[in-house]
Amino acid sequence: MNLLALLSTAQFLYLLVSVAHAGTLTKNGDVCTVSPSDDGSDDTPAILSAFAECSQDATIVIDKGTFNIETVMETVGLQNVTVDLRGTLLWSTNITYWRGAGLPLNYLNMTSAWVFGGSDITFNGNGYGTFDGQGQVWYDFADGAGNVAGRPISLIIANTTNSRFTGIRFVQSQFWTMAITQSENLLLDHIYVNSTSNSSASTLNTDGVDTFFSNNITFRYWSVTNGDDSISQKANSSNILIQDCVFYNGNGIAVGSIGQYNDTYEFITNVTAERVVAINTVWAGYIKTWTGEVEGYPPNGGGGGIGYASNITFRDFAIANLTNGVTEITQCISYNGDTGGCGTSTFAISDYTFESVFGTISGGSLANLYCSNNAPCPGIDLDFANVVTNGTRNLTCSNVVNPDFECTGPAYYSPY
Ligand SMILES: *[C@@H]1O[C@H](CO)[C@@H](O)[C@H](O)[C@H]1NC(C)=O
Ligand SMILES: *[C@@H]1O[C@H](CO)[C@@H](O)[C@H](O)[C@H]1NC(C)=O
Ligand SMILES: *[C@@H]1O[C@H](CO)[C@@H](O)[C@H](O)[C@H]1NC(C)=O
Ligand SMILES: *[C@@H]1O[C@H](CO)[C@@H](O)[C@H](O)[C@H]1NC(C)=O
Ligand SMILES: *[C@@H]1O[C@H](CO)[C@@H](O)[C@H](O)[C@H]1NC(C)=O
Ligand SMILES: *[C@@H]1O[C@H](CO)[C@@H](O)[C@H](O)[C@H]1NC(C)=O
Ligand SMILES: *[C@@H]1O[C@H](CO)[C@@H](O)[C@H](O)[C@H]1NC(C)=O
Ligand SMILES: *[C@@H]1O[C@H](CO)[C@@H](O)[C@H](O)[C@H]1NC(C)=O
Ligand SMILES: *[C@@H]1O[C@H](CO)[C@@H](O)[C@H](O)[C@H]1NC(C)=O
Ligand SMILES: *[C@@H]1O[C@H](CO)[C@@H](O)[C@H](O)[C@H]1NC(C)=O
Ligand SMILES: *[C@@H]1O[C@H](CO)[C@@H](O)[C@H](O)[C@H]1NC(C)=O
Ligand SMILES: *[C@@H]1O[C@H](CO)[C@@H](O)[C@H](O)[C@H]1NC(C)=O
Repeated sequence: MNLLALLSTAQFLYLLVSVAHAGTLTKNGDVCTVSPSDDGSDDTPAILSAFAECSQDATIVIDKGTFNIETVMETVGLQNVTVDLRGTLLWSTNITYWRGAGLPLNYLNMTSAWVFGGSDITFNGNGYGTFDGQGQVWYDFADGAGNVAGRPISLIIANTTNSRFTGIRFVQSQFWTMAITQSENLLLDHIYVNSTSNSSASTLNTDGVDTFFSNNITFRYWSVTNGDDSISQKANSSNILIQDCVFYNGNGIAVGSIGQYNDTYEFITNVTAERVVAINTVWAGYIKTWTGEVEGYPPNGGGGGIGYASNITFRDFAIANLTNGVTEITQCISYNGDTGGCGTSTFAISDYTFESVFGTISGGSLANLYCSNNAPCPGIDLDFANVVTNGTRNLTCSNVVNPDFECTGPAYYSPY
């Protein structure tokens, strides 16, 4: 190497060292712009400063590049804020830290890495802004065990109204990708979720999104690849609209589970899903409640909840290679490993319509509907005439009141 080349290499290295810096915040009028560190340090302090400085009538730009997220974030009470995510937020893999520091959902003992909330918010990922949860370490750590304590939800949207989340990518979520709670009038569109394990460990509990205590939430143009519920409505969800979505590998749309807290009244009502494509999922959509018997306690145990799930309408689905069938109703969910008790729940399911479905299931039966003896289900209306199957065309039913189709036999026990 000649002297000139050596010098320039040294100068280049010097330059690198001299400009190495932590994440920075620049404020210009009502725009806060955060740039990532280039020394590998935690970018959370800079991001939190941006949310503090630009919490009202402002724009927060999270710029291009990779941001190291090593600390929990709580950014709530925002008012008329646009978040413009251009880079990638990369969550650290310190399992000990996250399990100890997670922020509470205040339900099911679950926690999150980021609690976000406010009103009149636009959170725009522009189609490329990315949450990378580095979930593989969590899939391997849990190794198929359900609801491992402290495994963090990537993002909780809490106490949020009149807001839109659009164009955001979520890859390798640590646990559920999103939970929405205590929120109203939200549109979440053009959302990409992909949690795929590259080891033998499953992606159990990588739900796409779960709603709680929320009303008028629309999900449009989602692509969800995962190993659990694709989109789920849980306690006290109403007026939920799901349109133009595609689901791969997960369980499909899940109404529930619900009824996990003994003697506690909860409901799910008016859920509509239309123009949905489901590929290699377990079902296209299903409804699940806990039994009426209390065994253990949440998140993995419980039961005995009361209330209702009503006005569930699924239509215009294209399906391919679903493993267990098009749909099920189960009221048999109980503590890990427990069986039976399917007839004990008083949680009432009614007015469930599933029509205009085209495509294939790879086995199982068309539908297995196990309503509780203590809460027979009226208003169940299924039309699966255009579904092709290699299995039986069974529509097995227990305690379905006046079905408008012919039940081929009694429902079989299904624990999830
Ligand atoms: C919202 O904030 C923007 C600045 O980002 C401002 O121009 C606009 O007037 C605000 N809207 C309301 C209703 O205050
Ligand atoms: C992981 O987090 C724990 C708890 O905060 C901390 O004690 C430990 O030093 C961290 N490990 C690394 C490698 O940063
Ligand atoms: C929503 O706001 C209520 C009332 O301030 C609070 O108790 C609750 O913890 C918030 N939810 C979350 C998930 O932070
Ligand atoms: C609830 O979560 C905490 C930590 O997140 C854990 O220590 C505790 O064991 C959990 N409780 C249950 C019942 O799982
Ligand atoms: C439901 O939320 C949307 C925003 O996604 C809003 O435009 C609409 O007005 C809300 N509907 C009602 C009845 O409040
Ligand atoms: C999800 O990610 C896996 C692994 O990176 C990839 O093979 C697959 O094509 C992705 N799926 C979608 C729908 O993008
Ligand atoms: C049910 O939800 C839909 C949106 O999916 C909404 O348009 C409709 O008004 C709701 N029905 C009632 C009775 O609230
Ligand atoms: C469940 O609730 C019922 C009704 O309040 C009560 O009688 C029963 O003892 C509760 N069971 C448990 C295990 O807490
Ligand atoms: C449920 O559907 C019935 C019949 O379509 C309708 O009258 C009722 O308003 C709906 N209720 C809700 C909460 O959407
Ligand atoms: C159909 O699903 C099975 C699992 O049930 C899977 O092994 C197979 O690869 C899928 N076929 C296609 C064409 O994706
Ligand atoms: C039915 O089984 C045949 C032979 O195994 C297979 O080629 C075909 O793809 C299967 N069809 C469905 C809908 O699973
Ligand atoms: C179909 O129903 C019959 C009669 O109930 C039952 O023997 C058979 O096992 C069912 N097949 C499947 C795949 O569920």
